[in-house]
Formats: sequence, structure tokens, C-alpha cells
Amino acid sequence: MKKLRLAIFGVLVLLMSCRFPPTPVTQTPSLSQPTVAMITPGSAELPARPPDALNANCPSGDSLSALACRYDVLIGSAVDNTGLTNKADEKYRQILVSQFNIVTPEYYMKFAPIHPEPDLYDFKQSDIFVNFAEQNNMLIRGHALIWYAEDPDWINNRHWTREQLIEVMRDHISTVVGRYKNRIYAWDVVNEGIDDETLGLRPSKWTEVIGPEYIDLAFQFAHEADPNALLFYNDYGGEGLGEKSDAIYNLLKDLRSRDIPVDGVGLQMHVTLDDYIPPDELRASIRRLADLGLVVHITEMDVAIPEPVTPKKLKQQAQIYRDALEVCLSEPACEAFLVWGFTEKHHWLNDVYHPDTNYEAACLYDESYQPKPAFFSLQQLMMQP
Ligand code: XIL
Repeated sequence: MKKLRLAIFGVLVLLMSCRFPPTPVTQTPSLSQPTVAMITPGSAELPARPPDALNANCPSGDSLSALACRYDVLIGSAVDNTGLTNKADEKYRQILVSQFNIVTPEYYMKFAPIHPEPDLYDFKQSDIFVNFAEQNNMLIRGHALIWYAEDPDWINNRHWTREQLIEVMRDHISTVVGRYKNRIYAWDVVNEGIDDETLGLRPSKWTEVIGPEYIDLAFQFAHEADPNALLFYNDYGGEGLGEKSDAIYNLLKDLRSRDIPVDGVGLQMHVTLDDYIPPDELRASIRRLADLGLVVHITEMDVAIPEPVTPKKLKQQAQIYRDALEVCLSEPACEAFLVWGFTEKHHWLNDVYHPDTNYEAACLYDESYQPKPAFFSLQQLMMQP
């Protein structure tokens, strides 16, 4: 099923990309390539996979995306538009296109930037992102239609009736999703909807005015606007086991039980050397979510290192990245593994994440675009003899 869905969407992406004058920074191999030598299954680190379980129709070479393709896993990154548009950032674009095959906009598809005023939509930056991805045969995770943290002032700073706000949500979702219909592989429809303290729905204008049904409606509006897109609930706290993971699981179980069109769950995976997810917990969480019939994406991984950065800490970081990918590769429900920015030159942790503590160096590449031990650990995991 995983292969079929990817293949269908891959063909769509390829057909769509034919519409654009091919001006790729670096032409990535198309999604299906001549048969390549298969990895010997059953290596010590990875659970044995019957030979026919490995996808033989993958790009050749040892890029992360080519290697992961053989496990039917997409590997990607959040994208900072500065890296796409800054002429000096050719290296950013070259690595992005050569190593990854699925991308998420870090900022410009969120509510506030794309819908800054009630009657104004601004698609300039999101179009740049989508066109770049399509021109380079990359799948797209849209992010995020409803997220309490990026609601614009015109939503938060006025009184709404329930009917009015439902109409605002319908207009937003149908306009944004409709603009990119058949071009987005998966949407994060609702992001971070569970409250860390109460484990109920996080307070927001949506919860306050519409009530719990806002989640149902968001998924229904998104499905109406693009029936082909996979629709995800995305959050942190569901990666391992525990009370917030239970709350996310129960939310999704309820949605699925009422035939709300949610297809998948995004596990953000923002972790640190001091606080990360034990692989066996990640596996258990993925499996129980899969039992609900959900696809699982690891959507925003980064592994922050407390200063000072040392070779030992970089090795620990590499192991944490590797353990997470190893679980994803070996769990059929896990279809995508994305980092929240691949380079420390453009990374949110430089300014907003952990602002009051000295955490840094969270990525696969450093600020000079040099691959770190974490990059090589992922590559070597997938190149097991
Ligand atoms: C972050 C961006 O990286 C920052 O640039 C922005 O200032 C705030 O949002 N979880 C999410 C992402 O789902 O959308 C957030 O991205 C990081 C946490």
C-alpha cells in the first residue's frame, strides 16, 4: 500500500513538474529509476526484511533519499525560504535537492503569513516553495492549516460567533488547500492541538469559539478541498509513551471511530541529548498508532546539544538520530522521516528554540554545510552490507 500510494503521487508530481520549465538547481533523479543492486537484508542493525520488501525501483547512489527509498521511506527537511531565494545559498539548494525527496515549508504556509488579513491571502513565498519542490521532483508536506501559535491578530483580537469562525476556517482551508490541489502529498491539518498541562484540547480561538468540533471541521474542509492529499494531525509528545502520548492516541482513535478523514499522525521529534525518545517507546507508539490505520511521519526531528559541543556529544547525537531512523525504516506504518532544517546555517534553534538555554548544533549539517556524524550515521545505517 505504501509503495502504491507513493508511486501514484510520484507520477502526479512528475507530470505536474512537466508543466514548469525545468530550471532545477540540481535535477534529482525521478522517483523511479532503473533497478539497482539491493541491500542485503537482515543486517545486524536492521530487522531482517525479506528481499521482496526492499524497493528496487529507487534512484542509484548513496544519498539519504535514495537509500531510504529502498525501505519505502521518504526522507526530508523543513525548508527556510531564505535558502531557496538567497543567491549566495547555492549550497543549501544543492544539498536539499540531492539528499532529500520530501519537504515542508518552515513558515510560509502557516495561517498568519499566508492569510494576513481577513480578505487578503499572500501566496508569494508559498508559491516559491511549491514551485521549487515540484521543479526538483520533491514531495510536499503542507504545514500547518490550523495552529494556535500562528493565528493572526485579526483572528485572536476580536469577538466571533461560532458560525462566523467556522466560515473563516472553511474559507481559509478551502482557499489554501484548493490553491495547491493535487500538488501536496500530505497536509498537517491541525498542529499541536493537545494541551501539555490539561491533556485536553489546547486553548485557542478555535477551541474557545467553535469547541472540540473545530478539529473535525478542519479535516473535513481539507478533505473536501483536496481528496487526494493525506491529512495529518501533527504534534510533539506522541513520539514515546506517556500521558500526552495517550491523549494524542485517544484523540486520533476518536476521530477515526467517527470517520473523520484523518490519514496520518506526525510525530515532531524535537529532542535533546538530555531528553530524547527511547527507541522501544517510539516503536510502541508507532505500532499503536498504526493499529488505528494511521500512516506515521516523523515530521520535525532535531537533536539539540547543550553547550559546549564536543566530539562525544556529536556521537551521542548521531546515535539518537540513527535510533529514530532505524525504527522508522523497520516499521511499515512509518512512511517519512523529516528533520526540522538540515543545516545550522538556517535553523530555528538559532533564535527561537530553547531561548533561555544554550542548546545548539541540532542538525545533520553544520553552519558551513559540512555533514556531521549524525548525517553519516543515517547513511551508514541504510548502507549496511
Ligand atoms: C517554528 C519555526 O521553525 C520558527 O521559525 C517559527 O518562528 C516558529 O515555528 N513545531 C512546529 C513548527 O510544528 O511549525 C514550529 O516551527 C516548531 C515547533
